[in-house]
Amino acid sequence: MLEKLNDIEHLGLDALEQVNNEAELEAWRVAHLGRNSGLTQLFNDFGKLSREERPLVGQRANEVKKHLESGFVSRSGEIQQAALTHSIEHERLDVTLPGRRLPLGRLHPDTMILRELYRIFGDMGFQVYRSREVESDEYNFQLLNFPVGHPARDMQDTYFVESGQKLDNPVVLRTHTSPGQIRAMREYSARNPHNPPPVRIVLPGMAYRYEQVDARHETQFDQIEGLAVGPGITFSDLKGTLADLARRLFGQNVRTRFRASFFPFTEPSAEFDIECFLCGGKGCNVCGGGWLEIGGCGMVHPVVLTNGGYDPEIYTGFAFGLGPQRIAMLRYGINDIRYFWENDLRFLEQF
Ligand code: FA5
Repeated sequence: MLEKLNDIEHLGLDALEQVNNEAELEAWRVAHLGRNSGLTQLFNDFGKLSREERPLVGQRANEVKKHLESGFVSRSGEIQQAALTHSIEHERLDVTLPGRRLPLGRLHPDTMILRELYRIFGDMGFQVYRSREVESDEYNFQLLNFPVGHPARDMQDTYFVESGQKLDNPVVLRTHTSPGQIRAMREYSARNPHNPPPVRIVLPGMAYRYEQVDARHETQFDQIEGLAVGPGITFSDLKGTLADLARRLFGQNVRTRFRASFFPFTEPSAEFDIECFLCGGKGCNVCGGGWLEIGGCGMVHPVVLTNGGYDPEIYTGFAFGLGPQRIAMLRYGINDIRYFWENDLRFLEQF
């Protein structure tokens, strides 16, 4: 037995010398200290020894086990140290290399133009007023002087969110930002119903129409509404405001025009056009005839003033609704409105 123990010890320690990596070390552990190793077998056979032999063999067997275990621990340390040295020598970090740049996001061109518009209108004394995108038929149409069945509704083909039982007042995605005019006037006039304060606001946000999509029409688009209400506001204030906006956006020499138009909620009404920079006014697939329609405008209709809580005998006002994307198209030379929401990085990364 003692001889066998000597063999186990020598064999084990010799084999340990040959071990060079973690996998071999684990294989060695299983072979020499594992459940089926010679040493474990010997411990299992202990009962077969005579009484006299037992203390001697037991002592020696524990000694061998201790030697093998401490050999294992120190070899394991050597292997780990060698692996570390190897990685330090061969996988050296070059701390002088430049870092990897994190990709930086950027503003969407629509956001850029809206922020510029807020700044310009802010300079003119307009405050930003936010209103809801999901509207009732009453606010989107009726209070703006489009009665149920009015033919002017055909200009704004509508997405219905809920018709249900409220056939006379369904819920719709707003087709323009103009319902915000009523909400704002009602909020302002409620502050002092007998002497409502003047209003000078811009209302930005998404509008939705079931449109024939083309280079200048989308089904989802931004509008920015403007509303100024107070005693003595005239059409020249409106013209001055929009012409000044165009100059601030495009420089002193920009050409603009007002065309007579119709909206049920303004009287008189006009369309506001800017000469198309994309084609230099010659006419292209974006503008058609050399002018790009930027928005509709007019003097707030007396019915709308009344619906907002303002007495049309005392107050007048102007309103406009512009398409910021159309402005961005002129500003940045974008020749198709569909690029805005296509999420194509080749387009978005250009801004
Ligand atoms: C209106 O939406 C009126 N609410 C504007 C208004 C406000 C008139 C206040 C008077 C007083 P219109 O449908 O013309 O009008 O749209 C106004 C602008 O929104 C257009 O000139 C255009 O710039 C933009 N727009 C309209 N439809 C689309 C569309 N499908 N895609 C992209 N832009 C659009």
